[in-house]
Amino acid sequence: MPKRVLVYNQASPISGASPATSSFVDKHPDFEKVEQGRPDFKTDLHPVHVTKSPNPDWKYGDGVKRLNDAFHVGIDPYDDGRPWMDNYRLLISGIVPRPIGLLSTRSGDNKTENLSPMSYFQVVDHDPATFVVGFSSRTDRPKDTWRNLLESGECVINIVSEDMVEAVMATSVDAPYGVSEWEISGLTRGETKVVKPSRVKESVFSIECKLADSKEFNHRTKPGFSVASIAILEAKWFWVRSDALDESRNHIDLNVLKPVAQLGGIAYARVTETFERPRKTWAQAVEEAPWLADLAKAKK
Ligand SMILES: Cc1cc2nc3c(=O)[nH]c(=O)nc-3n(C[C@H](O)[C@H](O)[C@H](O)COP(=O)(O)O)c2cc1C
Repeated sequence: MPKRVLVYNQASPISGASPATSSFVDKHPDFEKVEQGRPDFKTDLHPVHVTKSPNPDWKYGDGVKRLNDAFHVGIDPYDDGRPWMDNYRLLISGIVPRPIGLLSTRSGDNKTENLSPMSYFQVVDHDPATFVVGFSSRTDRPKDTWRNLLESGECVINIVSEDMVEAVMATSVDAPYGVSEWEISGLTRGETKVVKPSRVKESVFSIECKLADSKEFNHRTKPGFSVASIAILEAKWFWVRSDALDESRNHIDLNVLKPVAQLGGIAYARVTETFERPRKTWAQAVEEAPWLADLAKAKK
């Protein structure tokens, strides 16, 4: 991956073009009081409870039986007078649960290191094993992770487990460039095989990655000003904790991984209950519902 020129231009005077990080940090003055009144975190919810699926008797063509007929409200995301914050709140509450990738990076000169959680994050293919991460721009300077990724072309994605949450949240603080979130969080550096940044030893699953591609998105009405960017990352090495990995080295135990996902507002989710549904081939579907064959014939 050739070194790339930084093209961020986040110092936009337009309100909403490059929101200040502090604007994302909603104020919750009563949080500590509210938290005190809540039950303790339950540590006895594992192993994960497995139930039947919601409608085990569902048949092809059955659709979904809704409980109400509420209508849908159409929203233009870029309507005049709709603040960008409304889209942020809508999206983070509507696209849930989102996995959290804790990204470990180093600067191009290898002198500084960084840790930051990103939940605009997903695996998008397995061959090559590929991930995307989305960065929201801020007014004063690019996200350190984004800057390091462009400079060095590499990172480690660390998957976040339940017991890591408080430490991981601490790494999201907008510390000055060069201040290492390893010290802020107390997380532990682990060895890596291919890339320079350390992996997070507390993570059950870590992925060493090289930057495969990147794109900055221009502001809609102010060309030249970046509002967001995405990184496409290709996995080069996997690290899985031995007690989470099966003998075939192709399955990670949910009861060990204990993944945390981000929800809307300041809420997070854990996986304590699941259900299973096997995928079927067309042939199996037709065997179960012969009328599907007529659908295929009608298409010809
Ligand atoms: C759980 C969580 C998920 C986050 N996801 C993202 C994300 O996907 N993209 C983003 O730009 N910022 C995200 N943030 C905010 C960044 O972590 C935050 O801006 C951080 O200060 C960036 O650090 P850096 O400048 O050291 O890279 C998230 C924060 C938290 C707590």
